[in-house]
Amino acid sequence: MNKEIIQEAFIACYGARGAQIYTSPGRINLIGEHTDYNGGFVFPGAIDKGIMAAILPNGRREVRAFAIDLHEQATFGLCKNDLPAQGWARYIFGICRELIKRGVCVGGFDTAFAGDVPLGAGMSSSAALESTYAFALNELFDGRLDKLELAKAGQATEHNYCGVKCGIMDQFASLFGKAGNLMRLDCRSLEYRYFPFDPKGYRLVLLDTLVKHELAASAYNKRRQSCETVVAEIQKKYPQVQFLRDVTWPMLDEIKPSVDSEDYRRSRYVIQEIERVLAVCEALERGDYETVGAKMYETHHGMSQLYEVSCGELDFLNAVARDCGVTGSRAMGGGFGGCTINLVKDDLYGKFIHSAKEKYLARYGKEPKIYDVAISDGAKRMAKS
Ligand code: GLA
Repeated sequence: MNKEIIQEAFIACYGARGAQIYTSPGRINLIGEHTDYNGGFVFPGAIDKGIMAAILPNGRREVRAFAIDLHEQATFGLCKNDLPAQGWARYIFGICRELIKRGVCVGGFDTAFAGDVPLGAGMSSSAALESTYAFALNELFDGRLDKLELAKAGQATEHNYCGVKCGIMDQFASLFGKAGNLMRLDCRSLEYRYFPFDPKGYRLVLLDTLVKHELAASAYNKRRQSCETVVAEIQKKYPQVQFLRDVTWPMLDEIKPSVDSEDYRRSRYVIQEIERVLAVCEALERGDYETVGAKMYETHHGMSQLYEVSCGELDFLNAVARDCGVTGSRAMGGGFGGCTINLVKDDLYGKFIHSAKEKYLARYGKEPKIYDVAISDGAKRMAKS
């Protein structure tokens, strides 16, 4: 992705110069899946792929937006009934509305954007889009919101305009990312800590099943609903419990007979996953990547068997990794498609990629896409050229 191309597309579209360029990244998550909306821990990092936008206030009460990759345009107002028809434009509209709700005087603007974070691949292209505009509009319209509030505005956009009741991990990672560092975020207190991540002798690589998870919103929301149902049941006896994060194993055992077995399985997964994140943090501090990898496999198993957010293609790539002797592998992100994240020893890398491509092609008639991961900085304004 290159800022000159975005700038040229903007000029071609609106005939004006002087737009500012902003960018915000997608994310990986080493471990801690479906724990964020349960008040648990996550362990993401921003990546070197994201969304880039040129933006210039236009002095009107109207937004004109151009999605360069899709060759689509949208024009919409800033009032609450002005929701645009195009899915991608709803993210921008949602951010405008959520910033306005938080006191930022967002006015009209012209914008063109493009991205190199693959859509629906579990790398949070939507959070990258939200964070780009949240960061930019807060700056361009003299908002005083801090990055945490911008992340919340992104999350609220998903909830209120896109129908996904997501947690805060993706927007947080996109805004707070720091090159070379993963972040451990406590999604209950919102305290976070950077962990330098430079696993000598290993590489992180994503294998994209090319199964798009875009239509998975209702399944995602249903998982969240299961967790909340179990919490509500536990609260009858333990009113202090707010999230599955607060639930102990004895509490869960106690209510087992009074909840649906599916909801029970979902909760088991979440509580185990929260424990796994903490175990991975400790292992990282010891430089113990074998344990990190073992926990990744455990997560995959839980996502597949208990939380049921995997799919045949993800399970297949996970099994290929295991057969090849890869240190850690699991489905990444919300699930239902997208990528596996793999922690691979340097000297196994070539063999693994070769074998994954060959086997996936034989089974599914196409090769998975391979993305090497560089852990990068979060949202920013690009310097003028
Ligand atoms: C999606 C959501 C996140 C998180 C993950 C699963 O990426 O946007 O909030 O719940 O799924 O960990």
